[in-house]
Amino acid sequence: MPVSIVIGSQWGDEGKGKIIDYLSKSADFVVRYHGGNNAGHTVINEYGKFPMHLVPSGIFAKKAKALITAGVVLDLEVLVSEIEALEKAGFNLKNRLFISPRCHLILPYHKILDKLYEEVKGKAKTGTTGRGIGPAYADKVSYNGIRLHDLLERKQFSDRLALQLKIKNKILKALGGRPLSQKQIEEEFLILRKKILPYITEPYPKLTKAIKDKQNILLEGAHGVFLDTDWGTYPFVTASTILPGGANAGAGIPPQKINQVIGVVKAYTTRVGAGPFPTELFDKQGETLRKAGGEFGTTTGRPRRCGWFDAELIRFAAAIGGFTEIALTKLDVLDELKEIKICTSYTLNGKKVSYFDGGSVFLTEIKPVYKTLNGWHEKTRGITKYEDLPITAKRYIEEIEKQIGVTVRYISTGPDRKDIIVR
Ligand code: IMP
Repeated sequence: MPVSIVIGSQWGDEGKGKIIDYLSKSADFVVRYHGGNNAGHTVINEYGKFPMHLVPSGIFAKKAKALITAGVVLDLEVLVSEIEALEKAGFNLKNRLFISPRCHLILPYHKILDKLYEEVKGKAKTGTTGRGIGPAYADKVSYNGIRLHDLLERKQFSDRLALQLKIKNKILKALGGRPLSQKQIEEEFLILRKKILPYITEPYPKLTKAIKDKQNILLEGAHGVFLDTDWGTYPFVTASTILPGGANAGAGIPPQKINQVIGVVKAYTTRVGAGPFPTELFDKQGETLRKAGGEFGTTTGRPRRCGWFDAELIRFAAAIGGFTEIALTKLDVLDELKEIKICTSYTLNGKKVSYFDGGSVFLTEIKPVYKTLNGWHEKTRGITKYEDLPITAKRYIEEIEKQIGVTVRYISTGPDRKDIIVR
């Protein structure tokens, strides 16, 4: 399939990196098209250990060119350190990494404002990653953003920054923060600019040509559908469109050109940060999943909240995202459980309701309806053939397919590259 997109189907951290790693082997282009360094996963391979937040993780595939397109917000310090780590490991990124000058920049005041907003919100805070994502996207859509385009023109950058600091320093002071110095930011950004200059070029013509030539393009979605600004659990969401449609705006790919939408789904559910989570487990079982699954954030190290598989959520994600197939990850984490529950639907006051019937408060009021299945109590880690899975594990997967109505094509059975079943 020439144009494939990998979408997280829960609240992020579904194990997209592993699926991307697998699919990128045949990719000509790997593309990050939204979000920023709030996303992240650690790639471990023969070259070393790399925490990847901005550079598409498909960069490790030998022939793939990596694109960071217009929809991404860039923290240049993080980007430069990723580039340097890759170069140190022997990767020559010249002619392999292309960054759109349309990308908006995360400036120091975005990161400070992110933290100050959270402080002011107190108990009602979102639990952001603190990377300045919300404030940077807010500036983008309120015409206050500064793009790489501006940084390319020294005077333009200086003028735009001066204007923004006029506004931002007032807000910072009002919220108890310290005003920022234009000189210091300018100096820092001019050093960073020098380092990324060789990679800045609009990737749009490359993508258009690749589509025409039927080359393989792999779009790397970040986060998960329920963090989508419009369709997620607002206000406990992130600031970008996570649905596949976001690739039209973020990368300039016409919507009808996306042939394959792979929804990545963890075999249970996790969430970091605040917000409703209908199937959350507060007991020992939640703790068991957290430990077995190593559920601590890659970006912030925070322990993740854990719960049962929620078919109501995934059904919605699959429908609105147009999933053509599912990649089920971390099946092996369930190996020790005697019983496994699947939430099949929601009720409110005894009546069946759907995810989209209400907002975040509604989701704290609904009751999940569970179906209990037997666990397999056997090791599935490292299994690479569907036939070799225990019958109860197959029943679990087939129940998921029945609930969602989409084929589970990939099953990840461990952290290693080769621990994967392709059906
Ligand atoms: P922000 O994206 O840093 O503004 O954070 C907003 C919400 O999205 C918080 O609940 C974060 O924990 C969550 N979030 C953002 N990106 C990711 C991700 O890649 N994985 C999991 N949660 C994320």
